[in-house]
Amino acid sequence: MSSVAPPRAMTVPEFRAAKGRGARLAVVTAYDYTSARLCDEAGVDCILVGDSLGMVVQGHPTSLPVTLDEMIYHTKCVVRGVRRALVVADLPFLTYQVSPRQAVRNAGRLLKEAGAHAIKLEGGVRMRATVQACVAAGIPVMGHIGLTPQAVHQLGGFKVQRDAPALLADAAAVEEAGAFSVVVESVPADVGTRITASVGIPTIGIGAGAGCDGQVLVYHDLLGLYPDFKPKFAKRYADLGTAVKQAVEAYCTEVRTGAFPTAEHSFR
Ligand code: KIV
Repeated sequence: MSSVAPPRAMTVPEFRAAKGRGARLAVVTAYDYTSARLCDEAGVDCILVGDSLGMVVQGHPTSLPVTLDEMIYHTKCVVRGVRRALVVADLPFLTYQVSPRQAVRNAGRLLKEAGAHAIKLEGGVRMRATVQACVAAGIPVMGHIGLTPQAVHQLGGFKVQRDAPALLADAAAVEEAGAFSVVVESVPADVGTRITASVGIPTIGIGAGAGCDGQVLVYHDLLGLYPDFKPKFAKRYADLGTAVKQAVEAYCTEVRTGAFPTAEHSFR
């Protein structure tokens, strides 16, 4: 019998309470069973099924084309690979901005059909009523303020957001509306620290400095898998893009020279 205790699942209240314990939270995105399983086994606290999949999986220049059905599909795949981590799924563009009622219906599908534990939506003050409606329906919400990629055209690009008073108001609105945590994206490090000190829920930074309560990275950025763009805030912990190319080149060469398959890979 194994003496290793089964991993305890991370819950929304535990995730929220991590701030009080001073525990930093490690969050990573994933979009499929295999990557989710690897991240879960590596011990991440939370897997975010981000609509960044529009870029790193689907090859679009922005996340705007991603649909709710696609998010449901990817979230289902991720949920099957996870035993311990909290699974949060993004509401994609135009599936919650129309009305709080629309948000509850669509967020509910991510929990009911896909098996997510919580949803994430972008916006601060302007999304107060929407966050409130989801929370009132029993749907845990992770907020997202700062650079909100679904507003890329309104913001004039993927730009650092520097309006500290507006960002502090956004963080306060999201917390007051009942969110259990908030992603803070692309703000100066000192503003990230101020936001973190101003709210009681964990801040999960991405390009928001070391003062946040946790960090999130896109899987493909963390592993060096996305060739199109490397954001300044992303740290590459591996160069799997090069490793994958070298492995596939070696395979092509061995197929063409007849070195693969050998008897070892053949049936008798
Ligand atoms: O879609 C996403 O992956 C995100 C993270 C970058 C926070 O929202």
